[in-house]
Amino acid sequence: MTQPTSQSSALSVQDLVDTAAGELAGINDTESLEAWRVAYLGRRGRLTLFLRGLAQLDLEERRVAGAMGNQAKGRLEELLDERSKSIREAQLTRSASEDRLDVTLPGRPLVSGRLHPTTQIVREICNAFMTMGFSVVEGPEVETDHYNFEMLNIPLGHPARDMWNTLWVDQQNEDGQYPLLLRTHTSPMQARVMESTRPPVRVVVPGKCYRYEATDATHEWHFYQVEGLAVDEGITFADLKGTLFEFARRLFGSDRKVRFRCDYFPFVEPGVDMSIDCFACDGEGSGCRICRDSGWIEIMGAGMVHPKVLAGVGYDPEKYTGFAFGLGPERIAMLKYGIEDIRLFYSNDLRFLSQF
Ligand code: DAH
Repeated sequence: MTQPTSQSSALSVQDLVDTAAGELAGINDTESLEAWRVAYLGRRGRLTLFLRGLAQLDLEERRVAGAMGNQAKGRLEELLDERSKSIREAQLTRSASEDRLDVTLPGRPLVSGRLHPTTQIVREICNAFMTMGFSVVEGPEVETDHYNFEMLNIPLGHPARDMWNTLWVDQQNEDGQYPLLLRTHTSPMQARVMESTRPPVRVVVPGKCYRYEATDATHEWHFYQVEGLAVDEGITFADLKGTLFEFARRLFGSDRKVRFRCDYFPFVEPGVDMSIDCFACDGEGSGCRICRDSGWIEIMGAGMVHPKVLAGVGYDPEKYTGFAFGLGPERIAMLKYGIEDIRLFYSNDLRFLSQF
């Protein structure tokens, strides 16, 4: 084996620089550039190994070859630098033209939120009554036995309590007297409103109610109600009929007919349920899914405020009379829009909710 000399080293180092420069000229991306760097200048790169090999030369040769080697290293580093700059510039120009913002493209549509169907129908109902002079008030969802039952002429042990089985809150109210419960209807606001105002009273009370209920297509364990109350001197059943008839026409169209039939609620006397003639079949009835062949659809309970309820809040039942009503907005929406399952309202399915 022949000893390397500075002359043979000069030849091979020049070769190496030429080959490296040739390869570099064909490189156009940063990955290949890095591979090139490793191949020549890395720890086991060709130039690095060359420089390491110089240790075997004698002193004079090593000096000459070492200088050439270092020059070659400087040259390769310089070339690497230039190439890396030009690759970066090329990338920038490319992305500037390819990723350019085209302001003439149509925008991506923003999905706008909307009100929940219950909120929409509650507002529609309240608006109808507001234009007839009613104000809107709200009350507590956690209610006392006192207001939810007692003040509405439903004393402990009254069979009507069975209709309003509920969720009890494991706590007493401030004065420790009455058990608390999630209100089963909005009717407790009747007494609360009358206790805090003098007649004339004209209010509607929208709000959430709760019942201990096995859910099905027409029953939810939580739902909304809108309560109504009008009390003054000389209010008669004719006022009840006129007001509720007008309400039905506003919500369901001007040619609706209404029907009142006797019903029982402990806090009204007489009590009624109110139906409208079916808007789907115009009261024809046969083969109609909405009214189930009857031609009529029940939309609310109502009645003349019971004298005991008036007396309970300190109103003189000889002087004042009034009417009350309660309706379920989800049920109204189901009728109006042909929704077949009340559970859809609160199952958070956008396919349902976004239709309204
Ligand atoms: N609170 C009753 C219920 O939940 C509905 C009702 C019926 C309210 C008759 C009234 C009324 O004000 O007069 O079933």
